[in-house]
Formats: sequence, structure tokens, C-alpha cells
Amino acid sequence: MRVRIRRARKLEGSVEVPGDKSISHRALIFGSLGTTPFHVEHLAPGMDVRSTGDCLEALGVERKPGPDGAVTVRGPGRLHAPGRTLDCGNSGTTMRLLAGLVAGAGVLATLDGDASLRRRPMARVLEPLRTMGARAAGTRSGSEERAPLVFSGGALSGRDHVLRIASAQVKGCLVLAGLHAEGPTRIREPAPSRDHSERMLAAFGAPVRVEPDGVVVVEPLSRPLRLPASLRVPGDPSSAAFWLGAGLLVPDAELACPGVDVNDTRTGFLRVLKRMGADVHVEASGTEAGDPVGTLRLRGGVPLAGTTIDAPEVPALLDEVPLLAVVASQAQGATRLSGAGELRVKESDRIAQVCAGLRAMGAPVEEAEDGFTVLGPARLTGTRIDAGGDHRIALAFAVAGLVADGETVIDGAEWADVSYPGFFAELARRTGGAVDG
Ligand code: S3P
Repeated sequence: MRVRIRRARKLEGSVEVPGDKSISHRALIFGSLGTTPFHVEHLAPGMDVRSTGDCLEALGVERKPGPDGAVTVRGPGRLHAPGRTLDCGNSGTTMRLLAGLVAGAGVLATLDGDASLRRRPMARVLEPLRTMGARAAGTRSGSEERAPLVFSGGALSGRDHVLRIASAQVKGCLVLAGLHAEGPTRIREPAPSRDHSERMLAAFGAPVRVEPDGVVVVEPLSRPLRLPASLRVPGDPSSAAFWLGAGLLVPDAELACPGVDVNDTRTGFLRVLKRMGADVHVEASGTEAGDPVGTLRLRGGVPLAGTTIDAPEVPALLDEVPLLAVVASQAQGATRLSGAGELRVKESDRIAQVCAGLRAMGAPVEEAEDGFTVLGPARLTGTRIDAGGDHRIALAFAVAGLVADGETVIDGAEWADVSYPGFFAELARRTGGAVDG
């Protein structure tokens, strides 16, 4: 699918963003650890969470769809060996979290995915799972292992894991394995990654705690998880980020995004935007799924200044880097990012894609192994951008198109559906027609 974007003269209103993707995956997976019906509302509507639901169904979890994206799941007590390959689609979170679930359950299962997921590194989950006793193998290429991943049982014992990279997917995988291991499992990360697994499981009464030094400790789960009857997934801050980015670049924009998750481990982009001078703030409105929730409010048309983003700040804004690069192209001076090498092994090589795309639109960009420097403010010119199979690239360059001269054509715009179906239609409405689908 091809979408055409032109300069936007207005952007206003209140945008309700889809349910958070990370929390949605976890709600379904943790729902499989109980035996009572668990009703989840405002589930993320994209393909990724659907992949998780489909895989869980193949493992014996009952799933009943409800209105407005709601779903009720009910765990089977013991997961079944699936009669088919578990297709994780494009979703790294599905594959890595389910690796821990399947290893813990000791079932025979194969996890596979699309061409992009088959390129992504999986040794980071397989190696620690094997130290716990899992029989698990990927497809080797050098020292790396990739999908398809084959699990063939093995009783698990708790271990102390020291992760080389901060990754909520790896941490969540090992937490799920640890719940079904003998003895305690401890996980230490080099920097705090998003903590939804810890918060949600602790809220559901699972023996998971975080020590003052940040180490996550998991004890074996001795009985099915006691789930609440229902949960509402808060809005996805990573989806809201595109609206805020758009609001910053369109003159006189005024936007609100209500009901968004504002957990600190997710909102690094807000801190960076404020540092750049953005007029953005959060109005707290309560808690959902163990996380703080609020309305994000933004007034556009203020001058922005470049900034520096280093390694410690990266985990809390990991998925917002493509958008931050686009915003940086309109800020005064240099914006430097470093310590973000992980972005090269996301759904695409996001460092390469973002640098190539911005350069093609006329922005001076210097690429580094673990980041980039963007010099602004740049006059962007519309061009053809290939999403390269990556939802966040499609969405970030749609935002860039709103300030570019001429027309920006996003090829592969349908990839946006991985996290944000309906984004382009909503953008067309909010901008009074700067988008043609
Ligand atoms: C996610 C963790 C992050 C993030 C991804 C979602 C999660 O990946 O990029 O979009 O829900 O656990 P890593 O764990 O690979 O950093």
C-alpha cells in the first residue's frame, strides 16, 4: 500500500491511541497462567498481538473476542503441545516471551516468524534458557541463533542471569521460565528496561519482586495465577509519540492524547522532547494494569533545540528513536544519539533506515555504528520512502511528510498496521486532508 503525505497546515483535537502493545502481549500471556476467565479491554489491535493470541490458542488457551478489541482468555491449567508451528509473524516480543512460556511448560513446540523475525538475534533467549535446563535450539549462523526455534522439553532450575543488554523481551522470557523452574531465578540488567512483566505479575500475586538494586527475583509459581476478572490496557505511549511528533512540526497544533501509559520506563521520549523545548506535559489520570496513566497535552509551533541522547537514556525511548530523529531534523543545532546499537536488530536496521530516509529528504545526517547526528533545522523535500517492512519507519516518515515540501510517498505503508491500524485515516482527518491513502 502506498500513502501520499503533504505539508499539513493544521492538526488538532484529542486522539485516543490504541492499547499498549507491550502490556497487551503480557495480558494475554499472563492470562494463560491462570484458569479463570480473564477479560482484557482495549487490547492493542495490530498484527503483533494477534500473533500472540493465535499462538496461545494453539497452546490450549481459550480465546473469545468481545466488542471494541476486548478479548477474554482462559488458561488450560497445563499448556498443550501445539499441533503446528507457532507463527509469531513479525513480532519479536511474541517469540521471545513465548520462548520462556514454552520452555517453562516443557512442551514440544517450534516458534517461527516472517523474514524480518527470522533475521533477528535469538541466542539472547536460547542461551540463558539452556543454562536453566531447557532443550532449545535455533538455526545457527556463526555465534548467533535465529528462528525457527525448536523446544523439546527439559526440567528447569532457577539461575542467576546477568544480561549483557537491557531488554524487556529477554527479561520477560526469563521471568516466565523462572515461574516454572525449581528454585529462585534472578535477573540483572545493565540498565532498566520496561518493567511491565514485573509490575503486572506482582499485581496478579505471582512470586516476582524487584530488589532495591534493580535485580528481578522470581520464585516458582506453586498454583495457577490468581487473575483479576478484567483489565483495561492503557494507551500506547509509543503510538502517542507519533502524534506528539506531528504536533511539534505543524504550526499552531494543539493536541491531547488521553489515557496513555506514562510509566517512566516508557516515557524517555517525553523527557527528551521537553529538553528540546517542546511545550508538552502530562496530566495524571489514574492507574491501569499497575501503571500510571495520564493525558499527554502538546502545543506546537515552539522553537526546538538539538540535544544529546546517550546510552543510559536509550532503553526508555528505544521505539521512539525514528520519530525523535525526524523531530531533530526540525530543531536548531545538532542532535546526537549514541548507545543505540540495538536499533540495528529491530524489525529493520532502524539506524540505517532513518539516516537514509532523512538524507533522501534533504537533512544532513551522519550515521554511526550505535547512533547518528542530525543537523537541523533542515528543509525537507518530499520523496519516496520505503517502510522496509518496519511499522515505526512508516509512521515516522509520515510525520516527516507533514513538514516537507512537495509530496512524500510511503511505500509499504500497510506495515503501520503492525502497531497502529487506522493511523493514516486518522491523520488524514486530523490534518484536513494532508494524507491520501
Ligand atoms: C518490548 C521490548 C523492546 C521493544 C519492543 C517491545 C517488549 O524490545 O523494542 O518494541 O514489549 O518487551 P527489546 O526487549 O528487544 O529491547
